[in-house]
Formats: sequence, structure tokens, C-alpha cells
Amino acid sequence: MSYYLITGGAGFIGSNFVKFMLKKYPDAHLVVLDKLTYAGNLRTLKDELKDSRCTFIKGDICDPEIVQKIFSDYPVQYVVNFAAESHVDRSIENPQLFLQTNILGTQNLLNIAKQNWTTGKDEKGYPTYLSDIKYLQVSTDEVYGSLGETGFFTEKTPLDPRSPYSASKTGADLIVTAYSETYKMPVNITRCSNNYGPYHFPEKLIPLIIKNILEGKKLPVYGDGTNVRDWLYVEDHCKAIDLVLHKGRVGEVYNIGGHNEKQNILIVKLTIETVRRLLKEYPEYMPACSAAKDSPDIDSWMNESLITYVTDRLGHDQRYAIDPAKITKELGWYPETKFEDGIVKTIRWYLENQDWVNDVTSGGYQKYYEEMYGGR
Ligand code: NAD
Ligand code: TYD
Repeated sequence: MSYYLITGGAGFIGSNFVKFMLKKYPDAHLVVLDKLTYAGNLRTLKDELKDSRCTFIKGDICDPEIVQKIFSDYPVQYVVNFAAESHVDRSIENPQLFLQTNILGTQNLLNIAKQNWTTGKDEKGYPTYLSDIKYLQVSTDEVYGSLGETGFFTEKTPLDPRSPYSASKTGADLIVTAYSETYKMPVNITRCSNNYGPYHFPEKLIPLIIKNILEGKKLPVYGDGTNVRDWLYVEDHCKAIDLVLHKGRVGEVYNIGGHNEKQNILIVKLTIETVRRLLKEYPEYMPACSAAKDSPDIDSWMNESLITYVTDRLGHDQRYAIDPAKITKELGWYPETKFEDGIVKTIRWYLENQDWVNDVTSGGYQKYYEEMYGGR
């Protein structure tokens, strides 16, 4: 058995990674540590938690006792840190929570992993470690800041974060690098572009738009809608993390992205068209569209008239675009899912999983939505 500590495994990307790893590695035991904030939901892992190879522990990555207990109870070899406050808009409202979880939580994980993995000291005084161990920090392209109309982020692009979210993720990356340089701890950092796919919490652009379309609500586009994001299907991100974890050169950073830049407005228009087409092609999806109960002629309203331009996000980064040449060249990774296929898969998943959407949005979501979009 190989033991993995997966933090944030009840969130969007973490849960997709848990599913991916359990399928791929029969001898993997995954210990999932998650605080279950608004963004984490155990329902997402309901099948995986029936598997004896997956253990769930509710707790905070900032809590040294709980993290130490995991290392005492399991021979953890790999730590993959997904746990984070991840939403830029929320970071603008409450920056401190982002520094707490994203920076101090990361340092706590590193520190306890180091204590438990250290075997002694070398002649220069550096710690020596058990073999076959690694800490992987799941980071973001947002640490590189914002691009103009041209160019790509490479691993050598200077860090230049703009939002409290990206600043906190940058802080985390720097402390990971410090553990690598100062203590020679075996680490990797991955920096990925925007993900989309199943189990994405509907506060982020794509799932929020899908939810609103089905409810016949306005689709809030920030600013003029020309901001560009580089979208990657979540499973391709999971495959990249698996490769870096097992084959990545120790101490290295790897950018992950699929050369799939799209303006937000294009994403919104494509999503409207695709939802409408799928509802017409597959009448069995119709119950997912609550707005169709009162207005069954969806052609008359499920169109671009739903789009509403709202006040721009403060400090809104204009464009992100990743150059993934390093991970492709060194580890043979490439994005397998074309955007045209991934977006259809994603929308179909939401049409088939309205129970999940209702469940994860039943808590504080309505209040958040009112506060965030009510006045705009
Ligand atoms: P998410 O918000 O969906 O999930 C985060 C998870 O972390 C949730 O399950 C939450 O309960 C948990 N969590 C939050 N604070 C915690 C704490 N203090 N202790 C333990 N658990 C805690 O986020 P996501 O979109 O799945 O992102 C996962 C990671 O990937 C994050 O580190 C994020 O910065 C990074 N990332 C995300 C994207 C993206 O497009 N979503 C792109 C690149 C990198
Ligand atoms: P988001 O999904 O929040 O990811 P990130 O800010 O981390 O890239 O937003 C993606 C893009 O969509 C970003 O440019 C902001 C924009 N956006 C909207 O236009 N309307 C919305 O309601 C949301 C949530 C985002």
C-alpha cells in the first residue's frame, strides 16, 4: 500500500483527484483531510467513502494536532495539498481567512510532514529523509499576475499576484520553496490554469452560469466580458498532478494548462447554446430546468437576453495563459479532453446531478448570492 494525505479532497479538484487515484492505483490508501467549508461536501465522496482504501477526516490544515495524528496513524508518503480558500471574489471581501488557510495551513502541513519524514542529518546539517516521499503544493497560474494581449506564463515568469487570493497562494508557494531550499525537503509545485468539470461549486463562472440558465436567472458578466481565462478539464489536471507527484523532478515547478484561452463572454454564450441544445436533444433532462416549468418554450427565453453586464471585479486580472512546454517535454503530459467535448460532458453532468447542486447550495449559498449579486 502507498499512503497519500489528500487535503481539500472534498472540494472540486481534490474530489476529482481522489476518484482518479482510487481508480488508477489499486494499492493506494487515501487519507482525505478537509474542513468541509461551504466549498467542501461529503456527498461528493459518497461512493469513495464506501471504499476501505479511502479514509475521511474532518479537520483544518492549520491544526497541528490533527495533522500529526494522521502521520501517527498512517505511514503517509505523499501529501497533496488542495485545501485552500479558492474564490477570488470572496478573497476581496475577507482577505484574512485566505492568508490563514492558504499560507499558514501550508506551512503547518510542511512542518509536520518534515518532522515525520526526517531520518537524521547529513554532514552539512541538512535533514535526511525517508525514501519515496513527496509534498506537492497545488498552486495556480494566478500567482504570475495578469497578461496583456500576448505572451504566456512559463515557470520562469516572475511572481506578480494581484488579488488577495493570488497573493495568498504566492505566499504558500514561497514557503514551499523555502522548505525545499532550507531543509532540502522533496517538494513540487504545480501551477494550473482555470479548471472546469463535475463537482465545481456554483460560485465560479461556468457552474454558476449553468445553474442560472436552468433557473432562468440573469447571467452576471463582469466588466465587458473580454477577460480571458485558459480552461482545462479537471481530469487532465488530475493526470498532471499524478505525473508530477510520481515522476516530477524534486524541487521543480510545473505549469499545467491546455492552450485553451477563451474570453468570458464567449464561454457564457457557448454555455447558453449548449444547455439549450442538450435540453432539446434529451427531453429526459428537462426536469433539471426549473424555469421551463413556467416557460416551456425555452427558445423564447434561453438565449443571450439572459446576459447582464455587471460592475467589474476589483483589480480584475485581464488575461491568463499557460505555457505547458516543460511538463509536456519532461513528463509527456498533454491535455486529452478538447474544450468542445469537455464543456458538453460538464453540462451533461450538471443536468444529471441537480441533487448535488441543490445539496451544496442549500447552506449559506443564497445569502452569498444575494450579497454578491443582489445589488448588481
Ligand atoms: P474548492 O474551493 O472547490 O475546494 C477547496 C477544499 O478545501 C474544500 O473542500 C474546503 O472544504 C477545503 N478547505 C478549505 N479550507 C480548509 C482548511 N483550512 N483545512 C482543510 N480543508 C479546507 O477549490 P478547488 O477549485 O478544488 O481548488 C483546489 C486547489 O487547486 C486550491 O489550492 C486552488 O488554489 C487550486 N487551483 C484551483 C484552480 C481552479 O480552477 N479551481 C486552478 C488552479 C489551482
Ligand atoms: P472565476 O470562475 O471566479 O475564476 P478566476 O477568477 O479564479 O479566474 O472567474 C472566471 C472569470 O469569469 C473571471 O474573469 C471572472 C469572471 N466572472 C464573471 O464574469 N461573472 C461571474 O459571476 C463570475 C463568478 C466570474
